[in-house]
Formats: sequence, C-alpha cells, structure tokens
Amino acid sequence: SDPGAPPTFFPRRHLTPLFGAVVVVWRGLWAQAGASALAAALPGCVPWARAPSFLSCITGVTVRSLQAPVRLGELGRRRSQHGPWHEVEILDAKTREKLCFLDKVEPHATIAEIKNLFTKTHPQWYPARQSLRLDPKGKSLKDEDVLQKLPVGTTATLYFRDLGAQISWVTVFLTEYAGPLFIYLLFYFRVPFIYGHKYDFTSSRHTVVHLACICHSFHYIKRLLETLFVHRFSHGTMPLRNIFKNCTYYWGFAAWMAYYINHPLYTPPTYGAQQVKLALAIFVICQLGNFSIHMALRDLRPAGSKTRKIPYPTKNPFTWLFLLVSCPNYTYEVGSWIGFAIMTQCLPVALFSLVGFTQMTIWAKGKHRSYLKEFRDYPPLRMPIIPFLL
Ligand SMILES: NC(=O)c1ccc[n+]([C@@H]2O[C@H](COP(=O)([O-])OP(=O)(O)OC[C@H]3O[C@@H](n4cnc5c(N)ncnc54)[C@H](OP(=O)(O)O)[C@@H]3O)[C@@H](O)[C@H]2O)c1
Repeated sequence: SDPGAPPTFFPRRHLTPLFGAVVVVWRGLWAQAGASALAAALPGCVPWARAPSFLSCITGVTVRSLQAPVRLGELGRRRSQHGPWHEVEILDAKTREKLCFLDKVEPHATIAEIKNLFTKTHPQWYPARQSLRLDPKGKSLKDEDVLQKLPVGTTATLYFRDLGAQISWVTVFLTEYAGPLFIYLLFYFRVPFIYGHKYDFTSSRHTVVHLACICHSFHYIKRLLETLFVHRFSHGTMPLRNIFKNCTYYWGFAAWMAYYINHPLYTPPTYGAQQVKLALAIFVICQLGNFSIHMALRDLRPAGSKTRKIPYPTKNPFTWLFLLVSCPNYTYEVGSWIGFAIMTQCLPVALFSLVGFTQMTIWAKGKHRSYLKEFRDYPPLRMPIIPFLL
C-alpha cells in the first residue's frame, strides 16, 4: 500500500450492505413522493387517502390515511333528530360562478362533511385542497365548524378556493429531514467525484470532523423520530409546491456545509479542544431543550385532537424558558446551530444558522400574535423567540 495515502477507514467490503440499506430507504422516500405526487395529480384515479407513508413504502404496510371515506347515508340517517334540511350553495371565490348546490344538508353537518359532499361532484378537488369561506376574501372555515352554528340561515352560501395539490406533513418532513442526513454522510464518507479520486472513502484526521458528523446526524435522526412519534400536527397536509422550496433549502445547505467541514483541507477551530467542548455543550443542551419543548407541546394536545392551549413550564427545567418566550423550541433550535457553527468554525454553518433564525423569528412572531389574540390571559412577559428582546 502507498504509505503517503490517506487512511482508509471504510473498507470496500462494507460497501455492499451499506449501499443496500441506502437504496431501500431512498426507494421508500421516492416511492412515497411518487405516490403522493400521483395522488395529487390524479386524485380520482389514485385515492389520496391511500397515498402511502414513508414507512408503508419500505415495509409494505399502510399505517395511516388522511381522510375518512364519506358515507352519504350517514347525514340522512341523522335527519329526524336534528330538524329540517339546510341548503348549501358553493360559489367560486374568484369568479362567483356557482360550482355546486347541495339541497339536503343536515344542520349538524360539519364543514368537513360538506367538503366531502362537494368532492362527489368535483373529484379533482379532494377535501384537503378545498378552502371554504363565508366571505370570498375571509378566513377559511375549520373542518370541525358546524353548519347550524355559522351565521348563515337555512340557505348557506360558501365560497370555494382551491389550495392546490396537497401532500401530507409527515411526507414533507420525512423528505426534508432524511435528505440532509444522507447528503451529509456522502460528504463525510467522501464518496467518489466529490474531493478527487485520491480521497475516495478516506477519513479526516481531525476529531472535530467526526464529532460534527455525529451531531449533524443526531439532529436529523431526532427530527425524523419526532415527526413520526412526537408531534401532533393540526393540519394533515401542505401545498405540494412547498416541498420543492423546503428541500432546496435543507438539502442545499446540508451539502454546502458538509462540503467544507469534510474537505481534506478543512482547518479545525482556532481555539482547539476548548472551543469544541464549549460548542458541544451548547449543542447538547439546546437539543435536550428542543426535545423537552416538543414533548411539552405534544402533552398539550390529546391524541387525535386539534386543541390549542397556552403552553406553560412543567417540572422539566428545560421548559422553564416558556416563562420568557412563546416559542422556546425555536430558541433552542437556533442555539443548537450556533453551537454547531462554533464547533466547526465554518461560514456556511453560520449562514444556515442566520437564515434559520430569520425564518423562525418570523414564525415565532406570528405564533406570538395568535396567542395574544386567542388568549386574553396570555402571560405578558413573554417575547416571541429571544427573552426580553425579540
Ligand atoms: N432549522 C430550521 O430552519 C427550522 C425551521 C423550522 C423548524 N425547525 C425545527 O422543527 C421543529 C418543529 O417546527 P414547527 O414549526 O412545526 O414547530 P411548532 O409550530 O412549534 O409545532 C410543533 C408541534 O407542536 C404543536 N403545537 C404548537 N403550539 C401548540 C399549542 N399551543 N397547543 C398545542 N399544540 C401546539 C404543533 O401543532 P400544529 O400542527 O397545530 O402547529 C406541532 O405539532 C422546531 O421546533 C424546530 O426544532 C427547524
């Protein structure tokens, strides 16, 4: 062997099983993305409810569906208990063209049920892509709103807006988060055609590079697991077009950061082990904090519900940040990336932290405003994301 060659820590005999595992996961992701896109494009032919989840694609088992099937007879059976029928006309919010007239709607019907009835006449607009409003430019009605309780009388006029092709949040998050995980590892293992033939499958001699890989992978594995097992989202879907924007952001930044951190000419941080240790402590504390907040938010919402409550600190000290900010999960997320930037001393990481911070500040301000609007007794000391400042 060439004594001048960089050390090979990843013998070629390990490549076949690794490659097999990557292919299975990759196939799962793309099978799901393909099925979801097909379902979005041809909702009449591929029932949206059967678009498989990531797990179902790699395991062959369907684990969840987005929409319960409509049973028209159900509304009729309830008629005698709840008085006379209502009439509902649905107009296009832009053109005011009449799209549908439902002449026998039970007064206790929910908006979700009306959406299901509308889909019967317009199968291209499955319920998740419908927005129904009382006013053409007003807010969308909630799925659980009941017809009888709306200010409409016995003949209701609802305005329809098409939200565009939809994709499940779980699909979105899995695609967004699995991408950076694998992309980073390609650079870490220095697969061919990245740094030149001489460096194929070689490993860095700097400990910080290995530590950075562990931290980065841990972060995205945590997010994937939280998406599957912790978060209780209130919206089942989001517009398909968002996935392209979000993936460009997450995948692009992951590749950019990984390229520099795993580069054979990478320079370790100026203050050596001390800087790395401090950064690691920040990273670990913020990851624990972020996870604790996600658990606290999950406990606010009983399974299967969409309840929204004021989050308060619990016995877990990491949640005490709720005393000072409305979205401490974002505060901890930004903290994790600052820790990672200090650890790697890498400019693209600092930029990713800055862009993430800007985006999360915008969201945190929006969430803070909704809390203030929704809850009169909302704690006045809280700021959106940074205590006492922002
Ligand atoms: N690096 C980045 O650029 C970046 C950007 C964004 C997010 N993230 C990471 O991704 C995580 C999740 O982001 P997110 O925007 O989905 O966070 P989020 O809006 O705070 O929501 C997290 C979960 O908690 C639920 N929730 C929030 N407030 C609630 C309340 N008052 N009552 C009941 N349930 C509530 C949400 O349900 P709903 O479905 O009802 O909202 C959602 O399921 C973040 O904490 C962060 O770690 C990273």
